[in-house]
Parts: sequence; C-alpha cells; structure tokens
Amino acid sequence: MTAVGIDGIEIWTGKLSLDLPEEFAPVMDDDPEKYTKGLGLFKSSFPDAYEDIVTMGANAAHRLMERKGIDPKEVGRIDVATESAFDKSKPASTYIAGALEQVLDGVFTHANKGERKFACISGTQALNDAVNWIAAGRNRGRGAIVITTDTALYERGDPGEATQGAGAVAMYVNKDPSIVEISMEQGFGSVDETDFLKPNQQFPSVDGKRSMQVYLARMREALEDFESETGRSHPDDYRFIPFHTPFPNMVRKAAVLGYRHTIRDTELEDTLAEQIGRQPRSEEYDDREAFSEDIQEYMDALSETDMYREWYERAIKPTVDISSRVGNWYTSSVHLARLSALIHANRKGIDLAGETLLVGSYGSGAQAEIHEELVVEGWEDEIDGDAVDTLLNVRHPITFEEYERVHDQHNHSKEKVQEPFTEPDGEFVFDGWGPMNERQYTFIE
Ligand code: CAA
Repeated sequence: MTAVGIDGIEIWTGKLSLDLPEEFAPVMDDDPEKYTKGLGLFKSSFPDAYEDIVTMGANAAHRLMERKGIDPKEVGRIDVATESAFDKSKPASTYIAGALEQVLDGVFTHANKGERKFACISGTQALNDAVNWIAAGRNRGRGAIVITTDTALYERGDPGEATQGAGAVAMYVNKDPSIVEISMEQGFGSVDETDFLKPNQQFPSVDGKRSMQVYLARMREALEDFESETGRSHPDDYRFIPFHTPFPNMVRKAAVLGYRHTIRDTELEDTLAEQIGRQPRSEEYDDREAFSEDIQEYMDALSETDMYREWYERAIKPTVDISSRVGNWYTSSVHLARLSALIHANRKGIDLAGETLLVGSYGSGAQAEIHEELVVEGWEDEIDGDAVDTLLNVRHPITFEEYERVHDQHNHSKEKVQEPFTEPDGEFVFDGWGPMNERQYTFIE
C-alpha cells in the first residue's frame, strides 16, 4: 500500500486579536471565567481590513511552498475547504492560485482546483480527497496543496460570538510524507441535521446547545463505525487524539464520552471498577431516564479519577493549545489540533515516530469522521512551534469598540469604512473589486 499523508503544514492567523476575558467579557457583563474556564478560550483572531479567506489561505500556502521549496510544477491539485466562501461559482482555490502565481516562479495551469463544502469537516474531506487521488495513482508523481480557510464570524449578539476566529492552514500532501501517513480506514457518523447552517446568508443560524449534542452523537457514530471496520479504539493505543475544536471545552465533553465508550469491557474498566464501579449497561435498564442519570453519574466520577486525568493531560490537553489562543477556525480547527499536539511533542522531546494519532473531525449539518494517522521518522524537522508563536504573538490587540468596527468591516451587507490596524508586510492583501465584481489581490513586499 502506498504511504500517503501530510508532508508539510503552515498556518496564517487573522492579524488582529481580541482578549475575551479582558475585553469581551466586561462588555457582555459576563464573568471572565465563563470564557477561560467555561469555554476554554482566551483570545480570538480576527482579520484586518485587507484580509479575507483568500489572503489568509494564500499566505499560509505561500509560507508552505517557500519553506519546503515546492515548485508549482510539483503541485497537481489545489483544494480549498471553507464555509466562508464569497463566490458561489468560482472556487477560492482559483483566487489563491492566481495570487500565488503573482510571486512564484511558475504557474498551476495543469493542477486540478476545487472547493469543498461541508461545514468544518470539509477540511478533512479535502485532505482525504488528496490522499485518495495520490493512492489511486492519478497524481503523475505530483502532490496536493490542501488549504482550509475561514472568517468564522457570528451575527452580533449571537452566543457563538464568544467562539469566533479567523485563519488558515495549508498542508502539502504527497507520497512518503514527512509528518504523518493517513490510514485508509475511516469511520463515519452522518445525519441530516439543522444545528448550524447558512442558507444564503453570511452569518450562521445556530442552535448552539443542540449543536453540541449533535457533535457528540455524530462523533459517537463515527467511532462505532471505525471500531466495526478496524476492531481498534483502545485509548492507550493513541498518543494524541486531535478533535475538531469549536472551543476547547467541547473537546473536554467529547473526550470523557469517548473514554467511557472505549474502555468498556477492557482491563481499564476493571481497574477503575474498584473506585467507581462498572459502567451502567443500557440492557440492564427498563427506564431510559434512570439509565441516563446513572451514566451521567458514572462519567462525573470517571472524569475525577487519576487514570482519566492522566490520559486527558497526555492525549487531549496538548491538542487544544492553539485553539484556546485563536478561537474557532472552522475548517482548520482539527488541523490546528493536530499541529498543537505535534508542537507540544516537539517541545517536550517526545519520540513520536511510529506512534498513532486518532483524528476526529466534525462538520455541522452534520457529519463526523474518524481515522488514524501514523507519525513518521523525521516529523520533528517539519514542526516549528516558535514560528507559530511568532505569528500569534504579533497579532494586533483590539478593544471591544474596535472589534465592533472590524465585525462591520467583514459584514458583506455593510459599507466598508475601516482603516487597517496593521501594515501588511510580505503578504497578500485584498485590493478592491474588479469589473466583474471579482475580488482582486496584490502581494505587498
Ligand atoms: N465560570 C466557569 N464556567 C462558567 C461560568 C463561570 N463564571 N459561566 C458559565 N460557565 C460555563 C457554563 O456552565 C458552560 O459550561 P457547560 O456547558 O459545561 O455547562 C460554559 O461556560 C458556556 O456557558 P453557557 O452555556 O452559558 O454559554 P452560552 O449559552 O453563551 O453559549 C455555546 C455557549 C452554545 C457553545 C455558544 O458559544 C455557541 O452557540 N457557539 C457556537 C456553536 C458551537 O460552537 N457549537 C459547538 C458544536 S457544533 C461545531 O463544533 C461546529 C462548529 O465549529 C460551529
């Protein structure tokens, strides 16, 4: 079987940041701990006046191609995943390729370009499409650039406002990759849902509380499907488990459910039984409500055990670090979770080569997917946590009042009036509209 996976990763963050406990909470009349403890979020990234999904995606891809010395001729496919598209026909990948061609030595004339849509999970779908294209041998020796990019903004006043974010991830996918090989086995949980959607509107209609239940239900179905396909899911088999992270505490909820599910009938459940008893089994109950109450009680006790806490600290907590500093980047979110874990491992000197990750992606509407990734020798040479920190640390901090103006700036129905807060430097910028209402982009040296 051909080994195919991720060979390089770069990110680009929206260049502004809003401090949630310091700036957002006081104006919302909220306790700052609702953000830091209740949601697990400290800052959100926002796009400056000259940024959008194309500039962020192109800037991430440019960094990737420059760092890895990728020639446009080596790229046979450019796929963009986004749920913030501004054009219903022309894919963001064409805008991004056009922008890149302004500065690269070469063109992408013979690359297949597209745009993927299924809320946040479309990033993983685009990644899987690239893997399948190479595994099928249709790539003529070339690799694929997969870009996830979003301005994840909610309507002003929506509870989702607390979880906003903006940024992009660019990944190079090829044969014999340098970071992770992606397994061909997958589990899916997919049901027609209306938890979060944008029917011909810029900002989402969201049923926030229900969306959390839908996330957990689809993730469980995907895990069950993965288990039935592979016969595997023991929590100790996975060094890290990156999940889609709309906010870090969503992952906390998913993790305890996943742990309970995957330790059932294992030696871990037996060991824990001495402290907290065995898990309630649905077949032992006539009354659904009593079963739900007992399960909740078991999970509360489980999350307090040393065994669970140690597993959480080891396998889950390192995955939510970037997310807690940038908010929800929708299609990029699970890819930031993987990157967070790899940066953590690199900094701690953890020998990850040969270890497996279990990756849980989710998109509202709704679908979850689970697959494994095998970390390969030399992965640490591709992971530069300091470069990511530099990008995040140089973001320009904005006040609440400035945030309101930034939100208006990126509201398609409002007139654009905002002067930028930052000076573009060695990056692509939005440069106005062309004669066919197309967006235009320039590279600022
Ligand atoms: N100290 C500590 N914790 C506090 C607190 C305080 N002072 N005040 C509140 N909290 C806790 C609450 O108890 C709650 O935690 P639990 O869920 O564990 O009880 C948490 O902080 C959030 O508080 P609320 O539930 O009161 O917050 P809210 O009503 O304002 O909304 C939300 C939360 C529903 C997630 C909202 O932000 C939202 O709608 N977000 C967008 C939708 C979303 O992200 N859904 C996630 C699943 S869907 C998905 O994953 C796709 C996607 O990317 C969008």
